[in-house]
Amino acid sequence: MGRVAILGTGSCVPERVLTNADLEKMVDTSDEWITQRTGIKERRISDEKTPSSHLALEAARWALESSGVKPGELNFIIVGTITPDMAFPSTACLLQHRLGAAQAAAFDLAAGCTGFIYGLEVAKSLIEADHSRKVLVIGVEELSKITDWSDRATCVLFGDGAGAAVLGWTEEDRGMLATYVAADGSLGDLLYMPAGGSLRPASHETVDGKMHVIKMEGNKVFPHAVRKMSDAADRVLARAGIPKEKLDVLIPHQANNRIIEAIGRHFDLPLEKVFVNIQKYGNTSAASIPLALDEAVRSGRIQKGHIVLLVAFGAGFTWGAVLMRW
Ligand code: ACO
Repeated sequence: MGRVAILGTGSCVPERVLTNADLEKMVDTSDEWITQRTGIKERRISDEKTPSSHLALEAARWALESSGVKPGELNFIIVGTITPDMAFPSTACLLQHRLGAAQAAAFDLAAGCTGFIYGLEVAKSLIEADHSRKVLVIGVEELSKITDWSDRATCVLFGDGAGAAVLGWTEEDRGMLATYVAADGSLGDLLYMPAGGSLRPASHETVDGKMHVIKMEGNKVFPHAVRKMSDAADRVLARAGIPKEKLDVLIPHQANNRIIEAIGRHFDLPLEKVFVNIQKYGNTSAASIPLALDEAVRSGRIQKGHIVLLVAFGAGFTWGAVLMRW
């Protein structure tokens, strides 16, 4: 019968750690507020000379190595990101060259924090259409470069990182069991970046007006994130005909520990089945899920045969879930 499966994973984070204590010196906040409201203790921040493609390249190399797939065997490179190195060429094309993946078509995909899940959905279709294909999916973000470091409501939340997965066809009894992706563009203005595109190209006015940074009405986004992630997760379990009790590891988008706990409660899951690393990295948007997945795999938290559920929600709004047997 066969399925599309993740053949290998990798990740990379910048070395520099920014703690809540550091943030206390930058804005009117406290370690107590950030910890209680979000669960975040520290996050990684890239330096000025290190663009997203650098983190993505490292993550991709690890994923290729663990999958046993050579760069020259890749047919597609998909990069989920809202912080590409530049608008064009795509970060995926930069990687195609640096990896030496000469046979691969390459493109970026903008779905906010759901970028990696959207990427998996696209990769699944590409591989189902031709079982010989190998696809590299990356989620990378340097949100620190589009963060307003004077806005305490957002600057405490975000961090930088990258995660990657190599996908291919397998005849083994594992791989993707069900997927679901969705969007609701009517709510886009609750989480957006006002300038830098064709609507408001960069100008003195946009820079002076701080329009090149993330604007988010966090408390309005919160209930949508809980509802939509719970719904997406319900749908993939139903599609695969797998009862929630069979879940071994749930990896939710690491945006806020209270959102993660709410999703855990929705499924009545014991805490040990819910993977959390938000305390170390904050919200890394499209990198969040693959970063957590790679950590869960390498630490042995995910074992062969485990039923693993990935679920994300982000700007757009976009949301989605992927259910796999590992
Ligand atoms: N330190 C201290 N106080 C703060 C801080 C801070 N860093 N930030 C906000 N506050 C204050 C506010 O000013 C407010 O004060 P007031 O009551 O005097 O007005 C109070 O804390 C409560 O603010 P809320 O915004 O209501 O706090 P909330 O409990 O909602 O937590 C948070 C904010 C963490 C942003 C939460 O709403 C959240 O996680 N939202 C969802 C984010 C999300 O999922 N985004 C989608 C993915 S992100 C992407 O796609 C890039």
